[in-house]
Amino acid sequence: MQFILTKDYNELSDRAADVFLDVLKAKPDATLGLATGTTPLGMYSRLIEKSKKQGVSFREARAINLDEYIGLSPEHPQSYAYFMKKQLFSHIDILPENTYIENGVATDEAEEAARYDDILTKFPRDIQLLGLGSNGHIAFNEPGTPFGSKTHVVTLAASTVRDNSRLFGADEKVPEKAFTMGIMQIMQAKKIIVLASGAAKAQAIAKAFCGGVTEEVPASVLQLHPDCTLFYDVKI
Ligand code: GLP
Repeated sequence: MQFILTKDYNELSDRAADVFLDVLKAKPDATLGLATGTTPLGMYSRLIEKSKKQGVSFREARAINLDEYIGLSPEHPQSYAYFMKKQLFSHIDILPENTYIENGVATDEAEEAARYDDILTKFPRDIQLLGLGSNGHIAFNEPGTPFGSKTHVVTLAASTVRDNSRLFGADEKVPEKAFTMGIMQIMQAKKIIVLASGAAKAQAIAKAFCGGVTEEVPASVLQLHPDCTLFYDVKI
């Protein structure tokens, strides 16, 4: 694992965007594993700006997202499909048919998970972006998820529902279930970058990267990846 301590969130966003741009410059038809959450927002806006300025195109690229709430359609403003369109896809020249995310309103959950597994097998990720849950989750793989997991349905931990409720309106209920890419599939990416910002993530980082590798802390598995970099903006 490589640790990069940045001086602030701006530098973190900037440097992370550069990593993605380098991947695309070297391989215009790269498959990018993308993430939601508030942490990557700065990186996405830099990526939009810098790709325009540097003439880097996403036309041949693919984007595969980590996870989606069950019960939210792609048009729902809190769905991750909506988030990706709003924060990134509508500002770049990626083709909509080359963007993938689980269908939160699929009628058959097992069938949907199997469909996503097939997509992940067909398109190996050249790079995977990850955020970090305060309980050490990656994507929606909560503590206790087997490291060998593939796409599956998760009942979200109470702490995750609490953390994510800040993004929902007062009268909106945070979904209790989600689809998530599995840990095994995350680990299959050639390169992984993890973004974490602020003191609130310090404990999760210490547990994930300064202790042993255990399924009780899903992000700790990243210690075993041959090319994983953590960008963090707080000294611990
Ligand atoms: C959610 C997402 C994760 C994300 C995490 C952290 O639970 N499923 O992929 O990493 O939140 O989010 P934030 O960056 O807002 O702290």
